[in-house]
Amino acid sequence: MSSQEAVGDIGLIGLAVMGQNLILNMNDKGFKVVAFNRTVSKVDHFLENEAKGTNVIGAHSIEELCKKLKRPRKIILLVKAGPAVDDFIKQLEPFLEKGDIIIDGGNSHYPDSNRRMDELEKKGLLFVGSGVSGGEEGARYGPSLMPGGSDAAWPAIKEIFQKTAAQTDGEPCCDWVGQAGSGHYVKMVHNGIEYGDMQLICEAYHIMKAILGMEESEIADVFERWNKGVLDSFLIEITRDILRYNDKDGKPLVTKILDAAGQKGTGKWTAINALDLGQPVTLIGEAVFARCLSSLKAERVRASKVLGGPQIAPFEGDKKQFIDDLEQALYASKIISYSQGFMLMREAAKEYNWKLNYAGIALMWRGGCIIRSVFLGDITNAFRKNQNLENLLFDDFFNKAIHKAQPGWRRIIAQAAISGIPTPAFATALSFFDGYRTAQLPASLLQAQRDYFGAHTYRRLPESATDEFPADKDIHTNWTGRGGNVSASTYLA
Ligand code: 6PG
Repeated sequence: MSSQEAVGDIGLIGLAVMGQNLILNMNDKGFKVVAFNRTVSKVDHFLENEAKGTNVIGAHSIEELCKKLKRPRKIILLVKAGPAVDDFIKQLEPFLEKGDIIIDGGNSHYPDSNRRMDELEKKGLLFVGSGVSGGEEGARYGPSLMPGGSDAAWPAIKEIFQKTAAQTDGEPCCDWVGQAGSGHYVKMVHNGIEYGDMQLICEAYHIMKAILGMEESEIADVFERWNKGVLDSFLIEITRDILRYNDKDGKPLVTKILDAAGQKGTGKWTAINALDLGQPVTLIGEAVFARCLSSLKAERVRASKVLGGPQIAPFEGDKKQFIDDLEQALYASKIISYSQGFMLMREAAKEYNWKLNYAGIALMWRGGCIIRSVFLGDITNAFRKNQNLENLLFDDFFNKAIHKAQPGWRRIIAQAAISGIPTPAFATALSFFDGYRTAQLPASLLQAQRDYFGAHTYRRLPESATDEFPADKDIHTNWTGRGGNVSASTYLA
């Protein structure tokens, strides 16, 4: 093939729903996309149907795909995360030249993206691991894109990525995240936060149903109202619509869905990483565990017959006040969840040596993705005001917001506990808040216990500048008089 045939701006492998929609989106933005799929017949089907009348070009082999691309070649993989990505990279390599760029747009685990970048850079190729969020509609009309990897790839893909992404207030929901697997890392945290947001909404729904005895249509009206205030977001909006969707018999479809949540693992990865980095990302952890608990359906049904709880009396309080409190409880818990998510990213940046731009990340999530919300605009502002902000809770706006929300938040959790309604996400958020704002925690006792039974040592609070026990001295006390004075070696996991 002559170089005249190298007309494609970008190639895309994987014509499932996300791939097809992303191609059509890039085509709308004026880019010539070359499409390829493992089952080649799908290429022609796509060209004759969804892509009919567009400038999309088909390729029937990896070699043809590569020949039809302008240099440096840019190829997006939208295939199942895992071995399929490595497999396509291997197939592409023989047809690529120095400086060409492979972009993985799947939900890959960031350590895989770290490895892939290293391996490809050694061969003179560039790698980008990009978070892509927003589902089918996002892909078609503007997703949130979170690219990271070989820095040298960014100038070459910037225009295509930023034009293809969602735009909010004239700014693209896409920017360079950083080195190696940082793009996929940020997408992983996005998904963890998505798990948290969804769990919080489910708890609010459960409370309205079980404590206030509300029907789905009435609850939908509440979500509609909330969607005009501080909770304005995609997930609140779709919850409203889900609750209004009736089955053939006129009953809400949601009431007929098996209450056992699935998960593909990105929330679990976030929680595992939080444990690895020693960050108290409790809300995402609880959201993952809540899915696990829900999926023990048969066991829960058996338990419901033998484990009693309080009888829920008909609600006699001020319903409007209660619903306003619930809105505040959801808002405050959300502030905690995002504070925790940004704490995790801050620690990851330190640990993995990435330079993360937190305002930029909030802006990438402001539109196009599943967690998009007005709230993310406030987070963008907080980090724009102070890019070294230690914690979102130290920002004036969020500090005021959480103080305003606090009384209602506490009332809701108290009422739920009295009524026997589980609120793992609401409650863990409040526990975190109370722990975080407490200067002196009972960990002193915990340290004493560790030293008592295992001579694990402790440090004393400084009493004066000339203290005989300086703050950095590990001390062991012979608590019983029976043990020896030898202490265990000290290290922190
Ligand atoms: C997105 C979503 C998406 C995710 C699904 C399913 O940003 O568009 O996060 O990437 O895969 O939401 O996730 P679970 O199956 O784990 O709920």
